[in-house]
Amino acid sequence: MGSISESPAKGQLGSIFSTLPETPLDEPFAVNGAYKQDCNAQKVNLGIGVYRTSEGAAWPLRVVEETEKQIYETGDVNRHEYLAIQGDQEFLTLASGLVFGFGEDKDSEPSMTEQQRQRVVSIQTVSGTGANRLGAELLARNVRPGCVWIPDPTWANHYTIWDLAGVPKKGYPYYDATYKTFDFEGTFRTLSTSAKANDVVILHACAHNPTGADPTQEQWKMLAQLCKEKGIIPFFDLAYQGFASGDAKKDAWAIRYFFQELHEVEFCVAQSFSKNFGLYGQRVGALHVALSSTATNDTASKLHANLCHLVRGEYSMAPRGGAEIVKTVLGNEHLRNKWQEDLTTMSQRIQLMRNALFNELIKLGTPGDWKHVINQASCFIGMFTYIGLTENQVHAMTERHHIYLLKSGRISISGLNEKNVRYVAMAIDDVIRTVD
Ligand SMILES: Cc1ncc(COP(=O)(O)O)c(C=O)c1O
Repeated sequence: MGSISESPAKGQLGSIFSTLPETPLDEPFAVNGAYKQDCNAQKVNLGIGVYRTSEGAAWPLRVVEETEKQIYETGDVNRHEYLAIQGDQEFLTLASGLVFGFGEDKDSEPSMTEQQRQRVVSIQTVSGTGANRLGAELLARNVRPGCVWIPDPTWANHYTIWDLAGVPKKGYPYYDATYKTFDFEGTFRTLSTSAKANDVVILHACAHNPTGADPTQEQWKMLAQLCKEKGIIPFFDLAYQGFASGDAKKDAWAIRYFFQELHEVEFCVAQSFSKNFGLYGQRVGALHVALSSTATNDTASKLHANLCHLVRGEYSMAPRGGAEIVKTVLGNEHLRNKWQEDLTTMSQRIQLMRNALFNELIKLGTPGDWKHVINQASCFIGMFTYIGLTENQVHAMTERHHIYLLKSGRISISGLNEKNVRYVAMAIDDVIRTVD
């Protein structure tokens, strides 16, 4: 008689899971864990992509605190009920309005705005990661792209997400390390010579993670034209709208250009409210699919139903609490203005710290050209910058100076403040002079 321990699936090692493959560590979270373990008083965390105040503390946005209180005080007994599978429709209308600018132009005809709205199918997701994942699954199952073109470098989770979706991945050269800019020539050449119709291309809509380098508007226009001519499907990752420049409209410029100027190009937008509302752990986001202007209502309905089907099978629906906050803020002029003030506070502090780091490095005479840290003209923006250190130098930053950053030399500017910026600059100076 067979016993459980003799089950052939268990093999010699006593578990059906004994042959599981090794999985890669998630670097930002691993670096964050190492930082927490470090007892040194001077330690600095430049690893994780979250906003920190000038005191190095987490910052619930003031508008979020006010809104939370307001929601609680209404005492709505339905506040913990299930959402619909698609999520909260009012939240989705406001979220898509924020991305595409629906109704922002007061002169545009209401019927025109309505027509434009109908080109977009939206569904609430488990934040930006969930939106990326859902979009990848939708395309993998239904469009079957030959491959997905992923910027090199990128947010590492893009590789995992598209791996899980089973779509072959190829890289395009995003960053020019010599000139410390977006590598437009490399990107354009690779996509124009090698991408095929129905391939997907991942585009960071603003504040590219990890380099902080974005295309210019002229470059975006050429990329849009290329997608149109080749039939490439753009997939915008929008994780920093309003957080990057302080202006939500400016940060959505590329998406709005694609939508308004290229009516035939169908594309996805993965929207996150983690950074711009400081709602990291609440998991608030949306996936928007922009359809061509010739797509029928029937296509839009089927697309919506398919998205709902995927969501229902995965987790039934996205969480409610954080989306309620975002909906309340975006739907109220007074709160929206307060949100704008909070966006300005965050983006200005980051810009201030970019300048402070640059000034300290210049004062120290640190070898190298540091203009990329502050140069808005070459579109360096947002939470991150590639500081330009080798892996050995990064290692020395941590070992000698207790400063935590990613192996690539990506730093989260938000971890800098008036008290530690000189210390960080001195550490950079030290490793650049003494380590290869
Ligand atoms: C480029 C990019 N995309 C998506 C995300 C997803 O964030 P979340 O799932 O918290 O919305 C992040 C977060 O760091 C990011 O940097």
